[in-house]
Amino acid sequence: MDNINDKIENNLDYSYFINPLSSRRRPALTRELTKLAYLAPKEAISLAEGMPNESTFPFERFDITMKDGSVMSLKGSTLGAALQYIPTQGYPPLLKTLKDFTLKVHNPPNWNRSDVLITNGSQDGLSKALEMCIQEGEPLLVQNPLYAGIEIIISPVKSKLLPVDQDQYGLNPEELRSTLEDWKEKCLQNESYKMPKMIYINPTGSNPTGTSMTLERKRQIYEICCEYNIIILEDDAYYFLHFLDELVPSFLSMDVQGRVLRFDSFSKVLSSGLRLGWVTGPKQLIQAIELHIQSSTLHSSTLSQVITNNLLQSWGFEKLLEHFDTVSAFYRARRDITIEAMEKHLKGLCEWTIPAGGMFVWIKVHGVTDVYDMLMNRGLKKLITFVPGHAFMADPTKACNYIRASYSKCPPKHIDKAIKILGELIREERELLRIKLENCT
Ligand SMILES: Cc1ncc(COP(=O)(O)O)c(C=O)c1O
Repeated sequence: MDNINDKIENNLDYSYFINPLSSRRRPALTRELTKLAYLAPKEAISLAEGMPNESTFPFERFDITMKDGSVMSLKGSTLGAALQYIPTQGYPPLLKTLKDFTLKVHNPPNWNRSDVLITNGSQDGLSKALEMCIQEGEPLLVQNPLYAGIEIIISPVKSKLLPVDQDQYGLNPEELRSTLEDWKEKCLQNESYKMPKMIYINPTGSNPTGTSMTLERKRQIYEICCEYNIIILEDDAYYFLHFLDELVPSFLSMDVQGRVLRFDSFSKVLSSGLRLGWVTGPKQLIQAIELHIQSSTLHSSTLSQVITNNLLQSWGFEKLLEHFDTVSAFYRARRDITIEAMEKHLKGLCEWTIPAGGMFVWIKVHGVTDVYDMLMNRGLKKLITFVPGHAFMADPTKACNYIRASYSKCPPKHIDKAIKILGELIREERELLRIKLENCT
């Protein structure tokens, strides 16, 4: 077998991916000095910092009681650090911990040319990565259906979404190739058309379909992206929330060319209110996103970062991974209850793929062309809420007969009831359609 190091071919021209707006960003001297202040020896004297003096803050100590009964205390200099500004890239001890963790889990072949950046959750990183690259009218390849958070980032840019259909193993490589070939043809015919520079993929326990991509698929997609010079946005918010026997290696783990930006998030496994995620990828692209953060939030919440770092330090990676397994087991049990209820109440009315991870099941309704009114009018009146599939389609204006059901928060005893009502709703809708059709003929 080839040594992976022999395959590293990082000669990408990242300026091709960074749009003029992003390339005009320059580092703020004050932010750069904050970075230096963190690295400076203890005896260094600084009159440079524009930070408030934390001794004036009203907080003396934070004690956080954990579920195992232990207490995490933030006091003294740790509390001082938690209440203060930090370098944009992240709280240095957490940044180091996340780099070590990423190296342990993904062992990225291009690690020496990669960097990590802490963000306010994945959504923050994704929006800044897309804003760094996509310009008005330019295309973005997306898995279809897709996480609704992408459409809201790019619709103001008037980007054209190029949807690539999925099956039970996620995005289909053959569909990707044919979408690219068709688009290439259009570009040849019309100069104003441009080839896509990025693809958005949510490979594990995908939102909204619950599907997970196989390793073979990832390899095929990676190769196509190399061929067409495309950056992969690997949004893996549910990576550790999988129901498979083992983790499927990530796109980052096979990225010999430096064309993957990977988005991880603590939202689903520690707390979504902490608002913490991290982006890993080529240094040039990470730096462009960092400069955007310099101009917006300055950095993600220090308090959240310090709490998370203390937790990771006290647990170590083994216990963290054990915790992820516990969280997965919780969702797997909820999934099983949901599928059981669907077998009972929706058989013959709908079809679905059993989720391989995440929190969602994607339901195709038979005999109903559009579920919007059924759910948003009659469904709400019956006090059940499901998301109409439109919310996740590259073209949300088209009729859609899919529904996303989430099994994360609904108590198990209510899941069966909600699915039963959904079954009744679908039967009623089909009856209404039948009567309508009869009246037309
Ligand atoms: C696929 C996907 N990506 C990103 C996010 C955003 O996560 P975060 O809380 O890390 O911003 C979500 C949240 O639901 C999601 O489902």
